[in-house]
Amino acid sequence: MPSCILAIDQGTTSSRAILFGKDYEVRGTAQREFTQHFPRSGWVEHDAEEIWDSVVATCREAMEKAGVSAADIAGIGITNQRETVVIWDRRTGKPIHKAIVWQDRRTADFCAALKQKGHEAEVTAKTGLLLDPYFSASKIAWTLDHVDGARAAAEAGDLAFGTIDSFLIWRLTQGRAHVTDATNAARTLLFDIHRGQWDEEMLALFQVPASLLPAVKDSAADFGDTAPEILGGSIRILGVAGDQQAATVGQACFQPGMLKSTYGTGCFAVMNTGSQSVISRNRLLTTIAYQLDGKRTYALEGSIFVAGAAVQWLRDGLGVIEKASETAALADAADDNQDVYLVPAFTGLGAPYWNANARGALFGLTRGTTPRELARAALESVCYQTRDLVQAMQGDWGKASGDTVLRVDGGMVASDWTMQFLADILNAPVDRPVVLETTALGAAYLAGLKAGFYPEPAKFAERWKLDRRFEPDMEEATRARKFAGWKRAVKATLLAAE
Ligand code: G3P
Repeated sequence: MPSCILAIDQGTTSSRAILFGKDYEVRGTAQREFTQHFPRSGWVEHDAEEIWDSVVATCREAMEKAGVSAADIAGIGITNQRETVVIWDRRTGKPIHKAIVWQDRRTADFCAALKQKGHEAEVTAKTGLLLDPYFSASKIAWTLDHVDGARAAAEAGDLAFGTIDSFLIWRLTQGRAHVTDATNAARTLLFDIHRGQWDEEMLALFQVPASLLPAVKDSAADFGDTAPEILGGSIRILGVAGDQQAATVGQACFQPGMLKSTYGTGCFAVMNTGSQSVISRNRLLTTIAYQLDGKRTYALEGSIFVAGAAVQWLRDGLGVIEKASETAALADAADDNQDVYLVPAFTGLGAPYWNANARGALFGLTRGTTPRELARAALESVCYQTRDLVQAMQGDWGKASGDTVLRVDGGMVASDWTMQFLADILNAPVDRPVVLETTALGAAYLAGLKAGFYPEPAKFAERWKLDRRFEPDMEEATRARKFAGWKRAVKATLLAAE
């Protein structure tokens, strides 16, 4: 009898494999970081081969640690960094170029030109997204136009495109399945989220041949079986969702109005809007939260590109900390009289500003500024950006009033200091669950649901447990002053990008 589900969480900076047991307990886990390539300012690439190796290695290691074999695994759930583009040769399975990562801005001019020609309204109406280089379509077109012979090969049907989930499934099944799920398809700018189909007009607009595309399935579905030699036996792949959607599932945000925010490399707030696809008036995205039994549940999403990456920059760029976990203690010791703001627009600004040309800026530096104030500015920037998103959501979703509760997860939420500041600046409670591995858990749940290993969503939701609720505890005048300072800093950053 199978006793667990294997979740593969292929993120922006690392690949992880986690085995979950019947009670959602973690049975084994492994993680590997991989190389980030920054060939030019604003460009970010990954080596899909290195990602593949890291995924196989972490799966094997997690299985070994848990002492389980393929026969013990009821199914695999895959969750992944979204939008990142891999194009590979269907014959050899080899990528024809490095993967172009969601953070990459090289197609900013291409997107701006389409916007200039007035295409954004139709793009948003169909895809729920904006004309921004963040999404896959312009990156696919760039690859086809910059790799020798790629466009002709694509037109001849020799190439395949996929987001990372799709590429991993191709490899795991040794080319037998070219598939993705609706949540990943919804991030490409090529998918009509209302009809649930690839869209001819979007394909024509971005000059992407339809022959490149994977088949689109539910988030809990039969995606194919792994080739036996990879993990010591064949395992069924039964769940797939983009990482933010998987976290929405893992946080059991199944009711319209429920909202989660995940703090990884970036920060992504997702609000379930049920069967209704709400088109944003505040430059948020409309997307698919999950698709089960052919039924789409929609969401509003606010995406910000730099959250944990700001702390990484303190560590790797500035060298003012050695470990990310030092940041909160430093921030706590910062001088209250210094108003230092970091606008971490390292790869442009996402929601609700959407400026691909903006670059990071620091404000309020004095001779007295130390790593302490920088650490506080980095953590605070994440919270200010969350407030930007939550305010925009409340504006779009009339039903979300002041009593919004935010469920949080991801590496940064381990910091009490950051979560308290978040509650303070939002002026709303912040709920941190016991299980912080919500992204992997969401993927495991989808696979377990399909396998009959886990129960229906309502039962799953019952096991969501609160670790701690952070209540706002800041004077209104302080909150208003601090947030106004953030808004001024963003305004100045945007001005500098003009
Ligand atoms: O849209 C990009 C997102 O899916 C990446 O998430 O957790 O790798 O920062 P993460």
